[in-house]
Amino acid sequence: MSNLISDNRPDLRTEWLGLTLKSPLVVAASPISRDPDMAAAFEAAGAGAIVMHSLFEEQLVEEQMAVYRLIDSHTDMNAEATSFAPAAPGLSFDGDDYLRELTQLRQRLDIPVVASLNGTTPGGWVLYAQRIADAGASALELNLYDVATLAIESGAEVEARQIELVASVVASVSIPVNVKLTPFYASVPAFVHRLEQVGVRGVTVFNRFYEPTIDLDRLEVRRSLTSSTEAELPLRLHALAVLSTTSELSLACSGGVHGGEDAARAVLCGAHVVQLASSLMAKGPEHLHRVHTDLRAWLARKGYATSAEARSLLNLDRVPDPSAWTRMNYIRTLEGWRDGPPGRKPR
Ligand SMILES: Cc1cc2nc3c(=O)[nH]c(=O)nc-3n(C[C@H](O)[C@H](O)[C@H](O)COP(=O)(O)O)c2cc1C
Repeated sequence: MSNLISDNRPDLRTEWLGLTLKSPLVVAASPISRDPDMAAAFEAAGAGAIVMHSLFEEQLVEEQMAVYRLIDSHTDMNAEATSFAPAAPGLSFDGDDYLRELTQLRQRLDIPVVASLNGTTPGGWVLYAQRIADAGASALELNLYDVATLAIESGAEVEARQIELVASVVASVSIPVNVKLTPFYASVPAFVHRLEQVGVRGVTVFNRFYEPTIDLDRLEVRRSLTSSTEAELPLRLHALAVLSTTSELSLACSGGVHGGEDAARAVLCGAHVVQLASSLMAKGPEHLHRVHTDLRAWLARKGYATSAEARSLLNLDRVPDPSAWTRMNYIRTLEGWRDGPPGRKPR
């Protein structure tokens, strides 16, 4: 797949998290990063950066507990046992595997490699961010995939805990930190503003929420991993259109970007990059090349010399009718039922 991108116009370069990317199309956190050959194929197809699959708080905490258990078991056997307890750095952890993957990707790729941590509570596991930075990640994406199940922890408390976590990650690394959010905040702009205040450089909107389903025969709760569809994009577009007016942060769109026109919509709403997972996993590097070509073709058709020229043109501040992004849109959409609901001819 040599030199798939032959013509460099329109210029797709973009600034994201202080990094200059050759393209706004980013490989989202996914198993793609586990295979350096595959990652290299996506780079050749035009990816501007790659986000690694996540390392989870639960994995890191479990590893730390395993070390303590090992040390404790020796200590119990012999009063002087701590002298022969193995040193923690000598043990092989999932975390070490992750750093090895990161190193391999860095050696193989020219594009920035963004590592990913996934957690919800402050704690010792956060120190791992420093090791990721030392291993050469260009940036760190922190995925706040929180599932609130306690009636005694209020929304404000959940947010305070998350901000404390993010602040501790930002404080422990010198590389840019990007936060991947769920849409489930009373005010996404207000939460993003707080993230900005603790030093975050960008946000990704949004995580996909993987809801389990119910097996009616077995009476079981069943996990299901389905690919996204373009239907997931509008929720992201709305967030981008608002956040690009309320914050100075780098904005990444994740969820439902399947083609070049989806990417164009995200850029028009304010995205600096779009992250793709489902469509790339289903269709491979050739698909990324197609998305690239289609995005370029759209920019050229509209007369833009760069993707930056198109960015934010339809956000809340710049769209000709801002009510399209506010509560008025809801009211007018429902009123529009009279003019032509789905499946009925307009009167
Ligand atoms: C198989 C698979 C594994 C994923 N693993 C991660 C992960 O480790 N960390 C993460 O933040 N997101 C992960 N994601 C979510 C994607 O990064 C992305 O946010 C989501 O799939 C929405 O983008 P899409 O519509 O292009 O699929 C994963 C998605 C898939 C399909």
